[in-house]
Parts: sequence; C-alpha cells; structure tokens
Amino acid sequence: MTASEIRPLTAVRSFPSDFLWGAATAAYQIEGAAREGGRTPSIWDTFSHTPGKVFAGHTGDVAVDHYHRFRDDVRLMTELGLGAYRFSVSWSRVQPTGRGPVAQQGLDFYRRLVDELLAAGIEPALTLYHWDLPQELEDAGGWPERPTAERFAEYAGLVADALGDRVKYWTTLNEPWCSAFLGYGSGVHAPGRTEPVAALRAAHHLNLGHGLAVQALRAALPGGCQLAVSLNLHEVRPLTPSPEDREAARRIDAVGNRVWLGPMLEGAYPEDLFADTAHLTGWSFVQNGDTATIHQPLDLLAVNYYTPTVVSHVSHIAKGAEKPRDDGHGNSEHSPWPGAGDVAFHRAPGERTAMGWPVDPSALYDLLTRTASRYPGMPLVISENGAAYEDEAGPDGTVHDPERAAYVHAHLDAVHRAIAAGVDVRGYFLWSLLDNFEWAYGYGKRFGAIHVDYDSLERTPKSSAHWYARVARTGELHPPGNV
Ligand code: FCB
Repeated sequence: MTASEIRPLTAVRSFPSDFLWGAATAAYQIEGAAREGGRTPSIWDTFSHTPGKVFAGHTGDVAVDHYHRFRDDVRLMTELGLGAYRFSVSWSRVQPTGRGPVAQQGLDFYRRLVDELLAAGIEPALTLYHWDLPQELEDAGGWPERPTAERFAEYAGLVADALGDRVKYWTTLNEPWCSAFLGYGSGVHAPGRTEPVAALRAAHHLNLGHGLAVQALRAALPGGCQLAVSLNLHEVRPLTPSPEDREAARRIDAVGNRVWLGPMLEGAYPEDLFADTAHLTGWSFVQNGDTATIHQPLDLLAVNYYTPTVVSHVSHIAKGAEKPRDDGHGNSEHSPWPGAGDVAFHRAPGERTAMGWPVDPSALYDLLTRTASRYPGMPLVISENGAAYEDEAGPDGTVHDPERAAYVHAHLDAVHRAIAAGVDVRGYFLWSLLDNFEWAYGYGKRFGAIHVDYDSLERTPKSSAHWYARVARTGELHPPGNV
C-alpha cells in the first residue's frame, strides 16, 4: 500500500488559516503585446519565430492578451477566491537591452497590475525570471557567460526599487533546470542550443545570478519581504531497487536537484556531480567565492511539481524496445541531462494528463517530506502544480473538467498530509490561472483553471475553477464530486 492510499479522499480537510491560495502564470505565456511599450525581443520571441521550434508555429505575440486585459483578469481572480497571484516580469519589457536604464512604460504595467491586485485584496508574488532572457544578452553569450548573472542582479535591483514598496513575495528564478538543460542542453526550449558544456556553465551562472540577485533584493527591499527561488525538484524513483537503477536515480538527483540545492542551500556543489560530468568539463568557470555568493539565506523554498521521474539504467528496458525518450518539456535526440547518458526514463502505467505525465500525488508527499527533513526550518510553498487536459467548451459554453479538479484535489490532499506530518507548507499556486502558451507545445496544451478561446480571447472559468474557488475561500478541501 502506498502512502497515498492510506487515507480515503472523501473527508474534508482544513488548511491553516494563513495558507496562501493562489494561481500562477508567466509573462511570455500570457501577456502578448510583444512589441509594445518599448519591449524588445526575448529569446522566446526569437525561438518561437524560428520555424520548427514550437508546435504549429505558435508564438507569444498575442498570447492571451493579458497586457491589455489584466484588469478583467484580476476580476476573474477575485471570482476564483484567490488570496495570492504569482506572475513573472518580462525582463525585456522593463529593461529592454538587458542592461542600463529601465523602460518606464514597462515598469508602469507591473505597477498597475500590482495596484489592481492589492486593491482586490490579492497578494502579489513576483517572479523575476521565467525563461525570457533579453535577446541582446543571449547574443552576448547568454547564461553560459558570467556577465549574464551580473546583469540579472542589476535587473533584480531595478524591479525591487520600483515595486518593493508593494510586493512582499519575491522569487528570483523559475525552474533554472529548464533554462539550463532544456535551453542549452536538449534545445527544446529557447535559445535552442544543444551544447552540454554550455548547459552546465548556464546552470552555474543561473545559480550565481540567483545569489547576486538575492543580495540586490535584500539591499533594495524593505524588511519583511519573503525571498524565494522556484525549483522543479524531481522526485526521482529508481525503476527497481537494483544497484544500477539506484545509480541512475543518484545521477538524475545530482544534475536535476542537487545542482541547485547544493550551492543555494548548502554552499557547495555536490562532488558526485563533478565526477559524473568530469569527461565534459572541469568546472573551472566556478570561481573562488562563487558558492558563498550563491548560498544566501532564503525565506521560502518554492517547489513546482507535476509528476515523478522514474529512471533505470538503460539496460533495464525490454530487449528490442525503443529506449524511452528523455523526459522534460518535449522530446529530443539530445539529452537534457549531462553526465547521465546511461539513464532511461520511464512513465508509469495508469492515469496520465494530456502531457502524457503520470498522475501520482504520493510523489508530491514524498518530495515535501524529504525536502523538509533535509532542510529543517525552511518553509516550503508549492509555486506550481496542475495538469493539462483536452478541455472543450460544451454547446452551452461551459467547460467541464472533472479530471483537473480530481488532480488538484488529490495533490492538495498530499499537501495536507505533508502538513499533518509536520512539514511547514505555506501556500499552493495552481498552474495555471488561464490557458496559455505552453512553450514548445504552443497553445496545444491547456493548463488553465480558466478556459481561453484563442480566437475571441474570451475567458470562461472551467468547472474546476468553481470548485477551487470554494476551497480557496473556505480553506477547506472537500472532494470535487462531479464538478
Ligand atoms: C513548468 C513551467 C510553467 C508551465 C508548467 C506546465 O515547468 O514553469 O511555465 O510550463 O511547467
């Protein structure tokens, strides 16, 4: 019996009264207005406009036009009973060249958004970087180059100067694993480079950028602000208990999790990661003092979780079967996991989302309890969790998505169990508020609590949104039934 089967899912569970109930988005996925207000291209504009990179040639040029409709969207958040809203700032909107002076118009957009949220009683939670590096900085070498980390800290300081008086929750990076290893390793994300050494260099400079940005934020923000980083921690499970499969899991844990957690929370890179990647690089780009810079005190560790990562040694796949593809956002011939060439990825049988990701809330429970026991005293927040399904509006215009409600319910139950086991979890942000541009999948995958008609841009809360609104308003998790 797995841990998740121990409790029936029928009971009502109460969450702490100060628990943050939120939903999340990211700038490039929703804003549109790609050429307005002085915004310059980011790597995602360039990438999405490159033929063959994104499903059906979709781009974020218009996205769901949140830039022009943010007031309506905040109204919808109120209908959803949200206590908090996580969004990201488009770097090239507020600092178009990635260096030097700010574009006031760009900053003003975020000021207006934040003011609207505060007026609605919704706590803004700001992410500085959700993958949209200004193209000019990529042209200068991008994250594999050290100056990008320094630019990032300057940008963090500028945004903090502008919004520090009204935003309490600050996140430096969203899922740096994707930026480094999908952006520069497998190339399925912008900027689409397939250079394993560059991916490792990018990982280090993202870490360094995080540390420098935390220093800049602490200098600029008033006391009481909560600083975090959002990591897509992989709950890595070996396919079998064999030593080879456990070794595969160790490698993925090193290059998926400990590459961030080590320097950020413990002040050192894991030695086994250096050994695993020694054939690629000697890591001489890590300079004296860097790990101390990266190791800044944080107020929260934010975790994004969707599905577990099940791995084996490549030899542990049926003879003659095709090697399971690398996991991550998309498939690729290139591995996003440097130093883990002998690892195969598996998807457990059973229920899956429209992304093909197995549904397994027990892995969220395991992830939270394991992370809490490794970092006692570090409060956690779920900064993303949710699922894509094939949602369609019915003839009466309503959108019925019972699978999403069931997914969120089961994962919130796992969060509740973790809290009951003593884990300090402060909040939950549903991914996503709205259907949006799902990176390499374009508009082909719908994660929203709110349905968006991509022709009219009309918004319709799905049935799961009505259910989630009741949970968020009452702090009581009750079974969705046939929502
Ligand atoms: C996460 C990303 C988010 C969205 C979800 C589905 O990895 O942070 O932007 O794409 O996955």
